[in-house]
Amino acid sequence: MSVEGVEEKPEFVRLLRQQIDAEQGITFARFMEQALYHPDYGYYISARKRIGKEGDFFTSSSVHSCFGRLIARQLEQMWQLLGGKDFIVAEQGAGEGHLAVDVLDAVSEQFPAFYERLRYRIVEISGDARQRQKKTLQRHLDTGRLDWCTLTDLQGMRGCLLSNELVDAFPVHLVQTVAGELREVYVINQGDDFSEELRAPSTPQLTEYFAQIGIAPAEGNRCEVNLAARDWMAQVADVLEEGFVLTIDYGYPAKDLYAPERHAGTLLCYHKHQTNENPYQHVGCQDITAHVDFTTLQQIGLKHGLETLYFGHQYQFLMGLGFLELLMQMQSHETDPIKAQALRMSMKRLILPEAGMGESFKVLIQGRGVGQPELLCARRIQDIRMPAAGLS
Ligand SMILES: C[S@@+](CC[C@H](N)C(=O)[O-])C[C@H]1O[C@@H](n2cnc3c(N)ncnc32)[C@H](O)[C@@H]1O
Repeated sequence: MSVEGVEEKPEFVRLLRQQIDAEQGITFARFMEQALYHPDYGYYISARKRIGKEGDFFTSSSVHSCFGRLIARQLEQMWQLLGGKDFIVAEQGAGEGHLAVDVLDAVSEQFPAFYERLRYRIVEISGDARQRQKKTLQRHLDTGRLDWCTLTDLQGMRGCLLSNELVDAFPVHLVQTVAGELREVYVINQGDDFSEELRAPSTPQLTEYFAQIGIAPAEGNRCEVNLAARDWMAQVADVLEEGFVLTIDYGYPAKDLYAPERHAGTLLCYHKHQTNENPYQHVGCQDITAHVDFTTLQQIGLKHGLETLYFGHQYQFLMGLGFLELLMQMQSHETDPIKAQALRMSMKRLILPEAGMGESFKVLIQGRGVGQPELLCARRIQDIRMPAAGLS
């Protein structure tokens, strides 16, 4: 730590500044890639507790196990839809392993026949995260249902590719329209600080991106462009022989993400449960994220043979999977009123729009070779049978 609670890795900052000098400035995407994934100092790569109370931020799966338990219900239906045979769930970017353990616990307890045919494969870039995932998931490692692999190892898979808060952590290009021309943000050195400079785009893909979605960013607005998300979607679509891609993240359709009134974009940093908009502080010690463009994910998916089966808010998705029913069930087993209240509060956080995760998070389900099934998550609230117990 140095002054005023700013956490720093001075040797990393020195290294970045040398790189910036050598290359006479680097794109913001390159800067973000280094800050998050540098092999020695990157935020996601170096040893650190990132998720949960002692970390920098919460994810839905770290808020309550019901998130993973409800997703397990959706996965079980997908397994049935593919004929109840061998089924792979591949989770990319598993963090602390919370989602994986909750899904695997729920499947082993409630759907033993599915558990027998299930292989849960984790694709994780961070060796540090993999170590902790192994500890969290030891009991499922012991049953032989779990392993770690790369995306290319999944070639020809049947099942579901799952991710929660993966795509928002990909490095993004920053662009701004000046006098009708698209310009890109480069990071340069200025005295002892990092600074920014607008230059011509580093790649024609940035202009092509906006042409694809049919949107021209408004004059002066800052926008993020996640080219890595496009490549990822194409790769994911290509490894999937038959089945589903279930992507959960905060984001919007392109018309909302790039709306004229969104002047400063969505770039946000997380450090010890505080948010800030300065990616040039706590370098390598804070998360940097940007909201996901779900229109582009669907367009690229379609180009690679994936049809959109479902797109909605996280609260709708969880409600469809029986959120209220599960909340009542869990509450009825809780005799301590204080614990029952805490349970309600953390579960509600997953669905509440403001300060909660219900509306800012979206869920996209795409499919290959599965037709247009009626997915469990798409059930309307009025069609869900409720248990008799009340909810206060
Ligand atoms: C915000 S965390 C997601 C947490 C987790 N899914 C959850 O629900 O708690 C992002 C995770 O994605 C991993 N990650 C980032 N880029 C990746 C990539 N290209 N391939 C695999 N994992 C990646 C990070 O190491 C981290 O574990």
